[in-house]
Amino acid sequence: MDSLQSTGVLWFLLLILMVARASAVNTPSCPLLTRPEEVSPTFTYNYSTPEFQSLFQQLDKTIKLFTSNNRLNSYAVAVVHGNRTIYTTGLTTTKFRVASITKTFTALGALMLRDQGLLSLDDTVKTHLPEFSIINPYDDHEVTLRELMGHVAGLPRDLCNLEHLQCGSNETEILEQVAGMKLVRPPWSNEPAYSNLGLSLLGHAWEKATSPRVSWEEFVVERILKPLGMNNSGVDLQGVDLAPTSLPEGLVDLQWSRPAAQLYSTAEDLGKYLQFLITGEPALISQTSIREWVSPATLFNDGQAGYAFPWELRQIPDFIEMVVSKSGDMFTYRSHISFDKSSGVGVAVLGSYEPGTSSSPIDLADRVFVPVVKTVESVNAQFLEAKYGGTYSCGFSAYTKSTTFDYKVRVIAGTIRVYVNSSLGLLADAEIALVNDVVPVVVNTTWSLLLKNASENSFWFGESPDCGAFAAQIGAAPDLAHPNELGTLFTNVIRFDPDGKTLEWPVVGGVFRKSGSSPPLLRPSRVFLVSLLVIFILLQRF
Ligand SMILES: *[C@@H]1O[C@H](CO)[C@@H](O)[C@H](O)[C@H]1NC(C)=O
Ligand SMILES: *[C@@H]1O[C@H](CO)[C@@H](O)[C@H](O)[C@H]1NC(C)=O
Ligand SMILES: *[C@@H]1O[C@H](CO)[C@@H](O)[C@H](O)[C@H]1NC(C)=O
Ligand SMILES: *[C@@H]1O[C@H](CO)[C@@H](O)[C@H](O)[C@H]1NC(C)=O
Ligand SMILES: *[C@@H]1O[C@H](CO)[C@@H](O)[C@H](O)[C@H]1NC(C)=O
Ligand SMILES: *[C@@H]1O[C@H](CO)[C@@H](O)[C@H](O)[C@H]1NC(C)=O
Ligand SMILES: *[C@@H]1O[C@H](CO)[C@@H](O)[C@H](O)[C@H]1NC(C)=O
Repeated sequence: MDSLQSTGVLWFLLLILMVARASAVNTPSCPLLTRPEEVSPTFTYNYSTPEFQSLFQQLDKTIKLFTSNNRLNSYAVAVVHGNRTIYTTGLTTTKFRVASITKTFTALGALMLRDQGLLSLDDTVKTHLPEFSIINPYDDHEVTLRELMGHVAGLPRDLCNLEHLQCGSNETEILEQVAGMKLVRPPWSNEPAYSNLGLSLLGHAWEKATSPRVSWEEFVVERILKPLGMNNSGVDLQGVDLAPTSLPEGLVDLQWSRPAAQLYSTAEDLGKYLQFLITGEPALISQTSIREWVSPATLFNDGQAGYAFPWELRQIPDFIEMVVSKSGDMFTYRSHISFDKSSGVGVAVLGSYEPGTSSSPIDLADRVFVPVVKTVESVNAQFLEAKYGGTYSCGFSAYTKSTTFDYKVRVIAGTIRVYVNSSLGLLADAEIALVNDVVPVVVNTTWSLLLKNASENSFWFGESPDCGAFAAQIGAAPDLAHPNELGTLFTNVIRFDPDGKTLEWPVVGGVFRKSGSSPPLLRPSRVFLVSLLVIFILLQRF
C-alpha cells in the first residue's frame, strides 16, 4: 500500500470512529432491557437444612412441654407447607373426633354445589327445606344459606338444651321444633351468633339440592374425603377405633345434627385438608370460591377477630393477614386447624384431654404455627437476598441532568431495601415488604414502594410523603396491566431480570448490573467497527 492510499484509509477510519463515538454517546452504554419475561422466582424448599431441622427440634421440645403441662392423654400435630406435610409428631394416624371442624366440610359441600350451579348461597333455607321456619321478632327477612354459613342468621346456638346431643333424627319433628324457636339476634347483626343449629340446617338444606340425591353423609365421604385422600376420616362412628376418651358420651352419634360436628379425622388426614386449603388442589371448588369461603362474614367490635364461612379469623401479632382457623371441642376431644395463605403454612392439632382441663388447642397450635411461619419467611428472605441482594451500578444515565452521576442501587432483600446513591449522595432509601400479592407496604421515607406481585419481578415507586393518601390510592386498585400509566403517584418502576443479575430502571435511564455478574456484551455494530479498525491498523503495520 502506498502512503497516499494509507493516509486516505486512515482519514476514512477516523471518520468512522467519530460516527461510532457520536452514536455511542447517544446510546446508553447499558442498553435498556426489553420487558423481562413474567416469571415468579421459583424456589425448592429443602427441609433437611439446619434451619428447618433446628425448627423441628424446637417444635419437639415445645410440644412435649405443653402436652405434659396441660394434661393431654393423647395428641397429634401435623405441620403443612404448601403441598407437603413437613412435620408430624404424636399419634398421627389415630382417629380423634374433630367436632366443629366438621362445619367447614359442610360449608365446602355448599360451595361445591354452588360451583356446579345446583344452588345459590343466596337461596333462602325454605327453598330447599320448605318446612323450615323460625320466629323472627325483628323483621320479615328470610334466612339464607350464606347467613347460615357465616353464623350471621341470628339463629339460636343449639337445637336442644344438651349442646347438640342427640336431638333425634326425624327432620319433620325437628323442623316443627325449630318453627317454635326465635332468632336470638337480628340477621347480619354485628354481634354474630355462633350456631350449631345453623350448620346442621345448612347440611340438610344442600343435601336436598344434590343430583342424584345423596345424603350429607354420603356426599362428605364420597365427594370430599375420598378425593382428598382422607381415608382415615369419616362420619359413621360405628366400629371406629377412636383415641381413648374418659367420658362415655365420647362415642355419641349426633344424628340430625351431624353436619355441625360429627366428623372424626387424624392429624395425617387434616394435613391433606390443609394442603387442599392452601394450594386449591385437588380443585373441588374454584380458587375464587376458596377465597370467598375464608373472607370475613363479620368482624367483632375490636376488629381483631371475626367469622368467615364459617372459619374463625384471628389476628396474631406480626401477621399481616388474619389467620384462618377453626377449632373443635367435644367431650374430651379438642382440635384446631390454622393456616396462612401467604406463607403457605398450616397446622393441625388434635388431642384428647383429661376432663376439667381448661387449656385450649389454639394455645398449642400457635406455639407451633408462629415459629414455622417465621422460619419459612426467613428462608424466603434469604432466597431473595441471594437472588436480588447486592450493589447494582450503571455509569451511564441518559435522562438525568448531570452526566457525572454514578448511580448505584443497593438491594437488600428481605424486606427489599433499595438505596440509590450518586456522586451527590443518597437519593433514595426505601423499603419494600415482600408479599405474594398486591399489598401496601412499609412507607417510611419520601419514597414509598409497592411490590407489584409475585409473578412479576417489578416494583413501583410512588413519591408521596402522605402515607394515608398512598395507601388509599393502592386500595383503589392500581392498573396492574399498565404499570407506567399510573399517573403522578407511581413515577418509577424497577424491574429485576429473572436471575436478579440486572435491574432496569427506565426513568433513570439504564440497566444496572449487579457487581460480580458478567459485564455487558458490546453491541454487535460496535464490535464490528472495532474489529475493522484493528484489522486496518494491523494491515498498516505489516
Ligand atoms: C438439603 O440440605 C441438606 C443439608 O444441608 C443437604 O445435605 C442436601 O444435599 C440438600 N438437598 C438438596 C436437594 O439440595
Ligand atoms: C408439590 O408441588 C411441587 C411444585 O408444584 C411439585 O414439584 C411436587 O412434586 C409437589 N409435591 C407433592 C408431594 O405433591
Ligand atoms: C317423623 O315424625 C312425623 C311426625 O311425628 C311422623 O309422622 C313420621 O312418620 C316420622 N318419620 C319417620 C321417618 O319416622
Ligand atoms: C384411599 O383409598 C382409596 C380407595 O380405597 C385408594 O385408592 C387411595 O389410594 C387411598 N389413598 C390413600 C392416601 O391412602
Ligand atoms: C453514598 O455515596 C457517598 C459518596 O460516594 C458516600 O459517602 C456514602 O457513604 C454513600 N451512602 C450510602 C448509603 O451508600
Ligand atoms: C421510620 O424511620 C424512623 C427514622 O429513621 C425510624 O426511627 C423508625 O423506626 C422507622 N419506622 C419504621 C416502621 O421502619
Ligand atoms: C401478577 O402478574 C401477572 C403477570 O403480569 C398477572 O397475570 C396477575 O394477574 C397478577 N396478579 C395480580 C394479583 O394482580
